[in-house]
Amino acid sequence: MTGPTLRVLDSLDAVARTAAQWVHDRAWDAANARGRFTLALSGGNTPRALYRRMADGPRLPWDRTVFCFGDERNVPPDNPESNSRMAKETLTGQPFVNHSSVYRIRGELPAEEAAADYEQTLRKLFPGTATFPRFDLILLGMGPDGHTASLFPHSAALADRTRWVASNWVEKFRTHRITMTFPVLNAAAEVLFLVAGEDKAWALKEVLKGSAPVSEIPARGVVPTSGKVTFLVDRAAAAGLGQST
Ligand code: 6PG
Repeated sequence: MTGPTLRVLDSLDAVARTAAQWVHDRAWDAANARGRFTLALSGGNTPRALYRRMADGPRLPWDRTVFCFGDERNVPPDNPESNSRMAKETLTGQPFVNHSSVYRIRGELPAEEAAADYEQTLRKLFPGTATFPRFDLILLGMGPDGHTASLFPHSAALADRTRWVASNWVEKFRTHRITMTFPVLNAAAEVLFLVAGEDKAWALKEVLKGSAPVSEIPARGVVPTSGKVTFLVDRAAAAGLGQST
């Protein structure tokens, strides 16, 4: 089992540019090999630059791309906090995107219901899956505390090994989130982390060079069974990794 690959780039813009090419290549590989590209989008702010580049850059197989979400806030789609809204503003709202292939998490529902609803959506997208769905690519970010998707330190969903999608109480925000679980993240063919900013330096060092338990640094729990993990990071986030980077 090879560990994650790290690529340190000069800036967030360089991370976005590299990630856009990465997504482009994986998308055409998947679409040509299997007729579709299954992609799980990350939320937060870091991916905005990537999504804009995907929209403006080299054409993707839009008509064969299935857009899902790794997590969502427990808010309606028009809420400024919504990951679906952010993606729509930057990518999935673009006219060339086949809107019937964008599957948002219905954050407007009570969290448990939203999670169960989304799991049913994924089960229809991956029919006949006996274990967990294998996305061609899952995009992830990471918080300063080492959370990824909405898998936060010491939160209940970290331990979920059966559901594809779980609701998760996040004590620090006093709110529920809806998130893909580790078994889904770790069933992916490829995971691409986008991490930028000095506020991520401590967590990134903990993920790549530390030995803390996953309960403390959830991003350490992303270890695909038979898939690749790559961290695309900027110099500010890599500041704690030492000279070898
Ligand atoms: C979310 C994301 C979350 C995000 C990190 C980093 O819903 O917020 O899924 O895991 O990737 O919190 O967020 P930033 O990119 O805004 O730093």
